[in-house]
Order: sequence, then C-alpha cells, then structure tokens
Amino acid sequence: MTDLLDAAERLGREELEALQLERLRSTLRHAYDNVAFYREAFDKAGLRPEDCRTLADLARFPFTTKADLRDHYPFGMFAVDESQVRRIHASSGTTGRPTVVGYTQRDLDTWADVVARSLRAAGARPGHKVHVAYGYGLFTGGLGAHYGAERLGCTVIPASGGMTARQVQLINDFRPEIIMVTPSYMLTLLDEFERQGVDPRSTSLKVGVFGAEPWTQEMRREIEERFAIDAVDIYGLSEVMGPGVAQECLETKDGLHIWEDHFYPEIVDPFTGEVLPDGEEGELVFTSLTKEAMPVIRYRTRDLTRLLPGTARVFRRMEKITGRSDDMVILRGVNLFPTQIEEIVLRTPHIAPHFQLRLTKEGRLDALTVLAEARPGATADQRAAAAQCVAAAVKDGIGVSVAVEVVEPETLERSVGKIKRIVDLRNA
Ligand code: DLL
Repeated sequence: MTDLLDAAERLGREELEALQLERLRSTLRHAYDNVAFYREAFDKAGLRPEDCRTLADLARFPFTTKADLRDHYPFGMFAVDESQVRRIHASSGTTGRPTVVGYTQRDLDTWADVVARSLRAAGARPGHKVHVAYGYGLFTGGLGAHYGAERLGCTVIPASGGMTARQVQLINDFRPEIIMVTPSYMLTLLDEFERQGVDPRSTSLKVGVFGAEPWTQEMRREIEERFAIDAVDIYGLSEVMGPGVAQECLETKDGLHIWEDHFYPEIVDPFTGEVLPDGEEGELVFTSLTKEAMPVIRYRTRDLTRLLPGTARVFRRMEKITGRSDDMVILRGVNLFPTQIEEIVLRTPHIAPHFQLRLTKEGRLDALTVLAEARPGATADQRAAAAQCVAAAVKDGIGVSVAVEVVEPETLERSVGKIKRIVDLRNA
C-alpha cells in the first residue's frame, strides 16, 4: 500500500508542519496583497502576513464567513486577474445570493490530485470504472469527482444526479466498481434496484464514496449490508475547494484524513471563536494553503466535528460530521441534530431508513415530529411499537420529547442529491 502513496502522504509529521507553515505564510501574503477584503481585515486587526511565525499564530488572524463571501459577490474575493480564472462554481444559496468560487488551472490540478488521492484511499485503482452520481454543474460534486477519477486513471461514467431508472440500468450494464453519490441518493437507487427486480447485492459495485451531507455509522451499516459494498466518507465544501478536502481510508474506516498539505484545519468554539485543542468538538475552520484564485483564511464551515491524530495516513483525521450548526434544532433548551435521529431510526426494527423532521409551533414552544417510513410488510402492531421505540430512544438518549409518526412505505420525498431533513413549518 505505501508504495501507492504520493510524496506528501509519505512526509513525517515535522516535515508536514514545516511545509504547512511555509505555505500558510505565502497564502497570507497572497491574500493580503491581492484581496482588498483580507488587507482591510488584517490591517484592522493590526496584523501583517509576516506576523504568522508558527502555525499557532494563525489563531490571531480574523475569521472569514459565508456572509463575507456573499458581500463580495460575485468576484470580489478573487486574488488573481479574472483572465486567470479557468472555472467558476457556485452554491445555490437557499437565501439570497449564491456563493461564488473560482479556480486557476493550478487550483484545478490540485483539486484533481486531492480527489485522486481520496479515491485511492477509498480503494479505487487505475482501470476501475467510477459511476459519478453527484450532480454536474455549478455544484462542485460532479465535476470535482469527475476530474479526480480521471486523474487517478479510472474510467468515469458521468451520470450526474436524477433519472434514477437509467442510473440503475447504467450500473447493471457498465459494471462500475466504484460509485460516488450522496448517501441519501444511494437509498433512492436502492429502491429503484428493488423495483426493477435486481438484487442490489449482486451488482459490480465494490465501494461507495459518500458525502456532501451528514451520514451516520448506522447509515454506513445499512448501505453496506443492502448493497454488499464498502461505504467510505468523503468531505469537502466549495468555499475551500469542493469534494476531496478529507477522505476516509477503506482499510480503517475511522474518520476522514484531512489533506493537510493543502487545507489547514482548526476547531473553534462556535460561540467564542476560541481555538480548541485536538479531540474537542467544535466548529471546523479551514485555511487554504495552496489556492491561487480564491485563498480562504480561517473560513468558518459551520460543520461540527473534532480533530484526531492520523492513523492510516500522517494527516490528522476529523470525525464524521455531527451536523451543521444551522441544522441544529433547539427544543425546550435541548440541542438536537438530524444525525442523532438518523442513528435512532436506523436502529429501530420495521422502519425504513427514510425519515423527515417536521418543526411546528405549539403555543409558544417549538415541537418536533419525526416522520419515519414503515418497512414494506410491517404490521400495524409493529409500526406502533416502532413509533414508541423511537420516541423512547429520543427521550432517553437526547433528553427531549418528540412526536413520532410511522408513515406508509414510499410516502416521504426521496433525495436526488443532498437531502433536506428538516421541514420548518413554524411560520406556516
Ligand atoms: O457538498 C462538496 C462535496 C461534494 C463533498 C461531493 C463531498 C462529496 P457544498 O455544496 O459547498 O460542497 O456543501 C458543503 O456539505 O460544509 C457540509 O455541511 C456538507 N458536507 C459535505 N461533505 C460532507 C460529509 C459539497 N462527508 C457542505 N459529511 C459542508 C457531512 C458534509 N457533511
């Protein structure tokens, strides 16, 4: 295996940190010299790029938020002339303006390299066929996966999202070893395999590389069992690059190695912004170390996780994401994440891995209803027992009362990409 690793993956920890510091200092300089936003922010904090003498000094520099990117829509955060920008992606932006990101040719090369490295860690090898069912377009998932798989020497099937019946046909006929897709859309594909009378355990697929949304160990077990594949986690965000910022290794499945030679992680207290030591849970913050078109300094991801030491690689790991701070529901003072409900729903017999969280108002208080689908064939008694079981597990495990409705099979909306777990009817 080690003979397959690239040069950066073979560095010692000290060499890696020396490389990070050198790259960090030049990124700070590049941002300061070429982006008015960073120049003003550093000046206001009384800092110069040279004031970063150690990796820990980065904590003195100001954060960047999604609002900062939106305020500089569309190209105000670019650090190179527009003629040097080879690609633009954008996030849909459920509220207001989209977030725009740009890449130089070198950035695109780096991106393909880190996705190739991710796929290799996931067990893909040159010559494998990779079915990419992440959406192609302004979303970074499809194209990011695509060029990385080509870079590794794989054959890409650029299926994109949607047209589920055809996806199943392509998988049956083209016989890919690897699939890249959101875990929730993988479940939609599962239904479709069954509808077409094809045993999902009989496909050519060996590994699924799942990301773009939070998913739990229980979801891993469900997908691995139903498809007879290995399921590994890939993480990324467009502001930092796209997919391939961190990847779980097939041989350990113990969290995601962050490709720290390109992306420098910190964990901060989401309320105070104070940097937390490795091992403590908080908000993940990234500083790009090699990006040219759009360097980001201390970008607040709003994703919650913790940093752990490296295992299968020298790079530190991040634990599976618990959730985004924006997706946290506060019910009578108790914080709740959709992933906590996922764990419970997927452990409960007679209910399918499809659920939705409906937020309403009861008087002045917020109330939450968990809607979960019955497995086909579950009896009325089994459904009632399952509902009770979920409610009790939420009460015991999370410490709050929720209503649970077990609904008919195939009645909850299916995902074609990133699934929306929370339906907020509080102002309806
Ligand atoms: O979702 C990039 C991506 C595409 C990653 C395909 C992996 C696979 P954005 O649309 O900018 O980019 O959304 C980024 O999605 O901040 C997380 O909240 C969430 N996310 C991405 N990967 C994971 C993951 C892409 N593995 C946002 N686990 C991030 C949990 C994830 N959440």
